Amino acid sequence: MAALRPSGCRLKLLTDRLRKWQRLERRNIYKKKWASSQPRVPSTRLALHSMDMSYSLQLGELWPSTRLALLCQQKYAALLNGFGDVSKTIREMEGRRARDFVYEGRGDRPASDPSCPARPPVISGDMAPEMEHPIAVSPNLKCFTFPRGDITRFKPARPDSLRLLEYYLMDAASLLPVLILDVQPGHTVLDLCAAPGGKSLALLQTECCRHLTVNDISSSRLSRLRKILHSYVPKNIYTEDRLRITSFDGRYWGEVERNTFDRVLVDVPCTTDRHSVLEEDNNIFSRLRLRERQRLPLLQTQLLVSGILATKPGGSIVYSTCSLSQLQNEYVVERAVQVAKTEHNVELRLVDLTAVQTLYSDTFNFYGRCRVGELVLPHLTANFGPMYFCKLHRVH
Ligand SMILES: C[S@@+](CC[C@H](N)C(=O)[O-])C[C@H]1O[C@@H](n2cnc3c(N)ncnc32)[C@H](O)[C@@H]1O
Repeated sequence: MAALRPSGCRLKLLTDRLRKWQRLERRNIYKKKWASSQPRVPSTRLALHSMDMSYSLQLGELWPSTRLALLCQQKYAALLNGFGDVSKTIREMEGRRARDFVYEGRGDRPASDPSCPARPPVISGDMAPEMEHPIAVSPNLKCFTFPRGDITRFKPARPDSLRLLEYYLMDAASLLPVLILDVQPGHTVLDLCAAPGGKSLALLQTECCRHLTVNDISSSRLSRLRKILHSYVPKNIYTEDRLRITSFDGRYWGEVERNTFDRVLVDVPCTTDRHSVLEEDNNIFSRLRLRERQRLPLLQTQLLVSGILATKPGGSIVYSTCSLSQLQNEYVVERAVQVAKTEHNVELRLVDLTAVQTLYSDTFNFYGRCRVGELVLPHLTANFGPMYFCKLHRVH
């Protein structure tokens, strides 16, 4: 036993070694990481993964080209500010070879243009679409784009002699819901989810609204909308008897102001597909926003039903999203029509948008296969959208 007992010097050596080993061990101890410090999968990647799963099934062979366009630079259009010095801006636009796609769409092309892909059979019964005559677009609405395949960008807008900005840069497809809303002189209009305000600005540009109500639940987004209106619209238009800005939960609007408006635009919150695959900031595919994302179709349906109830019998409603998702588009419209009928005894007719597809096929790449409504698919040669829109006519 004596031989096994270490001498003083040997004992010190062993103790030193043990301490050194313990230090090394401590350094290598595996600490369980908390969720917040675990490597984060970017929300943009989660978004793309989710879209690959659903849109490859939904769009089939069209998904790869749509996906590519979504990931590439978006194309913009310049909505002219009719309250400013338009003639000078038009000259400049034409000098740059941009063209007013709204004016070109106003041409007298027949609704049954053979270049337009045939629409597949639509669902029958209550949802059979009603043929709509080509829309009577206000001549005040002018929106310039560069031709198909031309990716020239517009310069930022400058203030004109009246200190109003000369144009508003937007996705040209965002104008389609406003065009099909078909606002006529004297109409009262509600923009239920309006901020940051591109479509409200376009509605004001028509100069047809006797009264426009602009609503959004988010007060911070509404302050962006106010800034936009301030930069583009003269104060005498911005008076309370013509324009009302409110911050209210749009889901309950139909209970407060029922049967009131000639036209209602319901441009709902959605997965904003283009933003979601490109930007981390405020991305709805972030893990923390999973529940919010899952609840979107319910919120969208509630907003649409509310918009339907706020419309006068004989009036029209446009529903729109900037998502490709069938769950947020066609399914929401079909469900809302059903709820309006069964729970509120409100009857709606679906408006056939084939004419719109024909009029604007030079500018946009239309999907043409939606069961209800129409969808602009992003494409490298016409990189606008996604934009889904559907028009309903309230019968009673
Ligand atoms: C797609 S954005 C609208 C874009 C706007 N129409 C435009 O053209 O600039 C959807 C808007 O809905 C608003 N929103 C979300 N939930 C809402 C609710 N319950 N009631 C009213 N607005 C709501 C959001 O704050 C957001 O500004």
